[in-house]
Amino acid sequence: MTETPPFTVLADDAAYAEAVQLAVDSAAAYYADGTSTLDDDAYDRLVRGIEAYERAHPEAVLPSSPTGKVAGGAVVGDVPHTVPMLSLDNVFGPDQLADWVTGLERRLGRPVTAWSVEPKLDGLAISARYRHGRLAQLVTRGDGAAGEDVSHAIGTIVGLPDRLAEPVTVELRGEVMMTATQFEEACAKRQAHDGTTFANPRSAAAGTLRAQDRPYTCELTFFAYGALPSPGDDSELAVRLRELPHSRVMEWVAGQGVQTTASTAVAGIVAETLERVSERVAEIAAARAGLPFGIDGIVIRCDSAADQAEAGFSSRAPRWAVAYKLPATEKITKLLAVEWNTGRTGIIAPRAVLEPVKLDGSVVTYATLHNPADIARRGLMLGDSVTVYKAGDVIPRVEAPVVHLRTGEERPIEIPQVCPSCGDAIDTSQERWRCVRGRQCRAIASIVYAVGRDQLDVEGLAENRIKQMLDLGLIADFADLFFLTREQLLGLERMGETSTDNLLAALERAKGRPLSRVFCALGVRGTGRSMSRRIARHFGSMQAILAADAEAIQAVEGIGPEKAPVVVAELIELAPLIDKLIKAGVTMTEPGWTPPAEPGEPGGPGEAGEVAEPGAQEAAGAVTLPLAGMSVVVTGAMSGPLEALTRNEVNELIERAGGKASSSVSARTSLLVAGEKAGSKRAKAESLGVRIVDPEEFAVQVSAFLTPSP
Ligand code: IVH
Repeated sequence: MTETPPFTVLADDAAYAEAVQLAVDSAAAYYADGTSTLDDDAYDRLVRGIEAYERAHPEAVLPSSPTGKVAGGAVVGDVPHTVPMLSLDNVFGPDQLADWVTGLERRLGRPVTAWSVEPKLDGLAISARYRHGRLAQLVTRGDGAAGEDVSHAIGTIVGLPDRLAEPVTVELRGEVMMTATQFEEACAKRQAHDGTTFANPRSAAAGTLRAQDRPYTCELTFFAYGALPSPGDDSELAVRLRELPHSRVMEWVAGQGVQTTASTAVAGIVAETLERVSERVAEIAAARAGLPFGIDGIVIRCDSAADQAEAGFSSRAPRWAVAYKLPATEKITKLLAVEWNTGRTGIIAPRAVLEPVKLDGSVVTYATLHNPADIARRGLMLGDSVTVYKAGDVIPRVEAPVVHLRTGEERPIEIPQVCPSCGDAIDTSQERWRCVRGRQCRAIASIVYAVGRDQLDVEGLAENRIKQMLDLGLIADFADLFFLTREQLLGLERMGETSTDNLLAALERAKGRPLSRVFCALGVRGTGRSMSRRIARHFGSMQAILAADAEAIQAVEGIGPEKAPVVVAELIELAPLIDKLIKAGVTMTEPGWTPPAEPGEPGGPGEAGEVAEPGAQEAAGAVTLPLAGMSVVVTGAMSGPLEALTRNEVNELIERAGGKASSSVSARTSLLVAGEKAGSKRAKAESLGVRIVDPEEFAVQVSAFLTPSP
């Protein structure tokens, strides 16, 4: 992959004119419906290239140039703004931020009194006009001087109430966007309606805000970032809003019942020094991947009204604020090929092979494409330019083709006619295609998974040995392992007495693993290690799990209405395998399990803490488990007594000690166990004020639980 320069180098007037045209077209598409021929990074590079060329050739500047214009000069509306809605200048790293601060303080001739630091929300700017406390009109930013009336959207925007707490006349400015959940719901609605989806939350929000005659309604979200009295209004409130620091204005806005970032994990703060500003920038950047909505930077501004007034404005942007841009989470790249693989459960899944692209700190070469129906719906073709999304730990995904960048050379994606693994037929009756042989197709992968360290942990059973047994017809699934005789094993090539005895002993030990691991070994679609533990802990026995219908399964945390029926259907399919495991004498209960108490009973909700001893909850003299009621996240390399444990084993330990093991840090996290090389999770925990301990300290806290019960 080649490193991209910080701006597009333009050779001559012709290249400059072409660049201006491209930027204008791209901005027009972006502000019209959120689609664009360029991703954010490429657009920024292009505009910086145009600016550089204009500095060197001021005589060549074209009137259509996007530089110095709000929204790249893209759109106009017919509702004039009371006060222009401007853009922000950008900085792209700590050095540029420091330079910007130096420049501003030089202009003021003194240090800035205080900074306000808040996330730059990735949506559309909107002006919400309240008259006597009632939301009277909604206007888009447009070209900054006038915007479009989108009052028809009133009532569909969470966080933007129809009425304020007080009957005041005021204009609120903020961002309209879609949260991840709203985006998914909007895509599902659109898919049900016309079989297409939105490219990303931003364009979904842009399209939805404008849409007037859609037969379906999609919900939007608003976050305010400013309040303005009308020019000429000299009421007490107007005077107060003009004089208060930004942070206090935002408190007033929140007090009126309007959503601000104060209700999020990346709340705006006031910082006295550039060090604290930089720290908050890092904290917000670290929290980004875990947020339920998109941010594309951090807005840093003078908090005090006096500082703002003194700093003033340029034609395009205020001099008292700047946007610190974060790396893009979405980029445009080429779809080179599509690979088809059959997974452990027989699902045939397409995977996109991409021209490598740097996204949110890593190079992305592969991305998921969901399923064949999804490919058809999105109308993807080989050779297409596609938008690819990745943030934090999420699996990169291809979102949509950029149709305007087609060259005519694109070819259809070949859809497999037979299972790419075994060549048998494909069951295409569901959206997710499956080999007709189901789990049998990739029996080897299912068995390797089942005997793996985090499931049944059958020591010394390597993949080639499993293959040998499958080829000889000694086993067809992992339950058959428990019926192998000594003679059968001794008959295998390169299998001596000692290895045979060791394997038989390992299989005997495997029969005693707790239900959580046995359930995990089944490889039920959509249930990994932690979900299997939750299911086992909720029901206590395989019998109870099998007796549960979709509704009962949904009582397990993290299983929603979509996953529940899949789990039920999978368990029906797995019934013969489960029967065999029961016959083999494999454990079908969770040690130390007691039925969940009803509210009001001892140990039930409201009585958190008083639970039981390790592995013997029914024992008399219950003690308080050290992690009772705590949500614990583990990150980085474990050391000390925890060094030899897999991540799954540490998570099991947390749950034995009464805690809940979770994989991501949020405001609900009680404790982060951070070893060496802990990265973004540590930064996020710090930003949220979550307690952090090292693995050694943690081991002491849970020392009584270090040895698993079976
Ligand atoms: S303050 C005078 N604060 O970013 C402009 N803007 O590039 C003051 N934005 O048009 C804007 N989050 O759409 C501000 N917390 C925030 C923001 C924010 C997103 C958008 C807004 C604005 C654009 C500027």
